[in-house]
Amino acid sequence: VAETDASASDENGRGQTVADHSVSLDGRVAVITGASTGIGRACASVLAREGVRLVLAARRADRLQSTVADLVASGAEVVGVAADVANYEDVRALADAAMQTFGRVDVVFLNAGIAGGPSLLDADLDAWHASVNTNVFGILHGIKAFLPLLRTQGDHGSLLATSSATGVYGTSYKTAAYSMSKNAQLTIMEALYGQLRDAGSNIHVGVVLPPLTRTNLVGDDLEVWSEVERMLARSRRGPVLIEPDQVAEVILEGIRDRSFWIEATGEQNDRLFRGRDAGAGRRKEVLVGAKHDAMLHHTNPDRYLW
Ligand SMILES: NC(=O)c1ccc[n+]([C@@H]2O[C@H](COP(=O)([O-])OP(=O)(O)OC[C@H]3O[C@@H](n4cnc5c(N)ncnc54)[C@H](OP(=O)(O)O)[C@@H]3O)[C@@H](O)[C@H]2O)c1
Repeated sequence: VAETDASASDENGRGQTVADHSVSLDGRVAVITGASTGIGRACASVLAREGVRLVLAARRADRLQSTVADLVASGAEVVGVAADVANYEDVRALADAAMQTFGRVDVVFLNAGIAGGPSLLDADLDAWHASVNTNVFGILHGIKAFLPLLRTQGDHGSLLATSSATGVYGTSYKTAAYSMSKNAQLTIMEALYGQLRDAGSNIHVGVVLPPLTRTNLVGDDLEVWSEVERMLARSRRGPVLIEPDQVAEVILEGIRDRSFWIEATGEQNDRLFRGRDAGAGRRKEVLVGAKHDAMLHHTNPDRYLW
């Protein structure tokens, strides 16, 4: 993020996982897509608290401006740019706006995403196109528009994308388009990490994997989460619902630590989520292990489909 980042290369690679909690983000500039609600909005608020100047994007200008107004009222330096990440020209204009406003970009958080998991039995191609356009091309457009800026500014800074456990641990087969797009995002970011490493770059690449979080992702009526919570309460070992501001603290630490995998560790779960998602590590282990076994032994996917 800063020229002072802990970036010594060692046998672990480019030093991407070297933690340095003392790195100050004060005065840095972050661009966040999908910032009008949910995780993006909460992250904007947490970064503003750290003195980061912000350029926020989402499609619906009215909601975006209301988020910007709230942040300005709390003393943040922030501008909003209405942009559809599915459209490269919009993302390019977002990068131009960031440079015109603040003259630099240090953190690029490609967080915009849509849910949607159409059945494959009566494949609705429009829904698949929507998923690919926002969730996959949204990330690619962000990389294309912002990576050259990060590179010419000294090859440091952070470039993050929000994927999902849905696309990483096992296969969430009922939300096929969403899972596919989130899996594609992980692959893109892994490849970006490798390609920047090979190019000798010190840009921090990270993938945010939020737990189940109370946001507008499944609709603007947040009451829907009450029903989800009632369902989750019946399963003692299942996931729990986390608040966006808690996830934002994990993301802040991921930026400071220059982590590739930005998701709550057991320690962060205890400290930031009050231990509520204690079963997460075990759930991941079971799904990854089951997929690993099925791939190596050519057994059917049943044990890792969820
Ligand atoms: N909530 C969870 O449990 C969860 C779990 C894992 C991963 N995630 C991921 O977290 C990210 C943030 O989602 P959220 O949960 O915070 O949901 P959210 O509250 O619905 O936020 C999504 C944000 O993205 C914007 N957006 C959607 N499509 C866009 C587009 N094409 N161009 C620009 N902005 C767009 C939305 O505003 P407009 O609609 O006005 O554009 C909104 O600001 C997503 O990538 C999601 O897949 C969420």
